[in-house]
Amino acid sequence: MTSPFGRTAAEQAAKQIREKSGVEVPEIGIVLGSGLGGLASDIEDAVTIPFAEIPGFPSATVMGHAGSVVCGLIAGKRVVALAGRFHMYEGHSPQLAAFPVRVMYALGARTYFASNAAGGIRRDLEAGDLMMIEDHLNLTGVNPLTGPVEDTDERFPDMTAPYDEDLRALMKSCAGRLGLSVKSGVYAWLPGPSFETKAEVRMLERLGADAVGMSTVPEVIVARAMGMCVAGISCIANAASGVGGSPVLHADVLDVTARAAAGFQSLVREFIAALPAK
Ligand code: HPA
Repeated sequence: MTSPFGRTAAEQAAKQIREKSGVEVPEIGIVLGSGLGGLASDIEDAVTIPFAEIPGFPSATVMGHAGSVVCGLIAGKRVVALAGRFHMYEGHSPQLAAFPVRVMYALGARTYFASNAAGGIRRDLEAGDLMMIEDHLNLTGVNPLTGPVEDTDERFPDMTAPYDEDLRALMKSCAGRLGLSVKSGVYAWLPGPSFETKAEVRMLERLGADAVGMSTVPEVIVARAMGMCVAGISCIANAASGVGGSPVLHADVLDVTARAAAGFQSLVREFIAALPAK
């Protein structure tokens, strides 16, 4: 049985994107998190394809997620970027949440860059900070690799270093050149859509989480199963529940990430420019 979000479906979606964009093999695939979609406007010679025109993609629904694939150039390198993603809280399976990464792989990308908005748990993480993801906790109890194994995938992928150390070092040096401060930490994936209780955040802290969010991890698991090199950035949108004194509000998440977007965009551009040619 072929999975609706497996290799064959990804190749069909990739074919459509290739035909519409005339794109050659992208060097990097990027997913833009909540409030970070502005990076799409930095893409030169951009061809924008709404999710609705891509086979296998449902249309994105949540405010803050534009819902399109943008192909083009950043710093002279071919990129494919997703403005918007599919979340479990919308009722999607983890397999669909990770499907865009399969499509990027089918297009030929072998580097995957994830971004998201997250709540800061560690005390030095403040709203507006950028945090390189150094590791993750999958606390959802589900896994996007559940089911028959795809022939692009490892059945039991090693997860000792899902976020590539060389890419993190490169990002750190790019941030240094730009005079941007970039922190580093562990991202915990919860299904949402309710934000955490204070007790849940205390639990997450004890489990070793520095930040918490509702995305990214299924994409990274599938990317690693296919042998892609992964980098990730969380934009700390708020202090997680109970860490600051205030309630956690989606409007603040979008507002803060929009304000942090300039730093994020310049970092991603510098990072892509510095990526070694494949
Ligand atoms: N919790 C979970 N997801 C989030 C948060 C948060 O506090 N902020 C942005 N995404």
